[in-house]
Amino acid sequence: MSTEVRPKVGAFGEYGGRYVPELLVPALDELERARREIVPSRAFQSELSRLLADWVGRPTPLMEAPAFSEACGLEVVMKREELLHGGAHKTNNVAGQALLTRYMGKKRVIAETGAGQHGCATAMAAARLGLEAVVYMGEKDIERQAPNVKRMELCGASVVSVRTGSRTLKDAINEALRDWTQNLETTHYLLGTVCGPHPFPKLVRDFQAIIGREARGQWRKRYRNLPDAVVACVGGGSNAMGIFHAFVRDEGVQLIGVEPGGRGIETREHGATLVAGRPGLLHGARTSVLQDDEGQILEAHSVSAGLDYPGVGPEHAYLRDIGRARYVAVTDEEALDAFERLSELEGIIPAFEPAHALAFLLKAVRENELRAGAHVLMNLCGRGDKDLETYFRFHAGRRGDS
Ligand SMILES: Cc1ncc(COP(=O)(O)O)c(C=O)c1O
Repeated sequence: MSTEVRPKVGAFGEYGGRYVPELLVPALDELERARREIVPSRAFQSELSRLLADWVGRPTPLMEAPAFSEACGLEVVMKREELLHGGAHKTNNVAGQALLTRYMGKKRVIAETGAGQHGCATAMAAARLGLEAVVYMGEKDIERQAPNVKRMELCGASVVSVRTGSRTLKDAINEALRDWTQNLETTHYLLGTVCGPHPFPKLVRDFQAIIGREARGQWRKRYRNLPDAVVACVGGGSNAMGIFHAFVRDEGVQLIGVEPGGRGIETREHGATLVAGRPGLLHGARTSVLQDDEGQILEAHSVSAGLDYPGVGPEHAYLRDIGRARYVAVTDEEALDAFERLSELEGIIPAFEPAHALAFLLKAVRENELRAGAHVLMNLCGRGDKDLETYFRFHAGRRGDS
């Protein structure tokens, strides 16, 4: 790889950077200043800690999962991020960025959402902190995630249906970026994952890093050592980066990200950006992207709206290339089976997204991805309420009901 393509700011090796219209540069510079000056300040940190404890519900527990572990032939311990206010890890990042919006003197936030979790978290945080919220969502995702749309509206947010392109997350991000360029003075773009132009991948990672920091401390206190592996699903990559970050320096801990293999990698109907993508530009950053031979972005597919994205956070592409993290894919069917297994075995209905990580664990020993009995920390990043309707529809389809 020649050095000319190496990004100048916010680089993770040859990935990351800031590839945006000139118009956005001042807003991104302002955000980078806020990241460096406001976020570490004592006033911001103490207000954020209070918000995370009282409103978001931190710390979340670490839970042993004996029946699921037996089914896997592993010792699986789960970080219960699905217990957070809003039902997913997304609230960590949103609380941080919404508070930062107030500190930057802005009154309006815009956001994109796929599964609706980020949109809900944004709507709730905006209500709590007195901000106006507009959420962009693909028309297809609005259909898949109807209860979350109602939640956003109840909290006072406007949900804008995006009817362009594949009518999913990628298109919602395009529309949110368009809005931002027109309203830079008043508006913060509250991006929901570790993607986009610098400084978003670092800003979001740092707000999500509390997951891994907390889990590492809890694990050490309980077991006096470190896990053999840390496993998380990867859509844009924020819950995975959040739990990986505290372990990156622990070379003995394997980091494994699980991507949506959809109907199978060979069918091209998937969203496995790290397993099957190539370097390219998407949404202002150089990263691993699903694209055709001419470099056109391909549509992603996943049963899980939150994983249905043809790009991924640039730091993951970097961790993959340097061999520090490993990325694998599981199919829709495997994820749905795992969704059922965790519900039956542990009484926890997971979101479709972490069901992908669970599906990997169920076959990891059989496929020699992990040794039998390995100690695994798994990020249970969201609960399944939002996916129930899709699940029942899918289940009816499998049984041949109408
Ligand atoms: C519960 C849940 N998990 C995971 C994801 C994927 O996002 P990320 O890879 O940024 O964690 C989403 C996205 O909406 C989600 O709702």
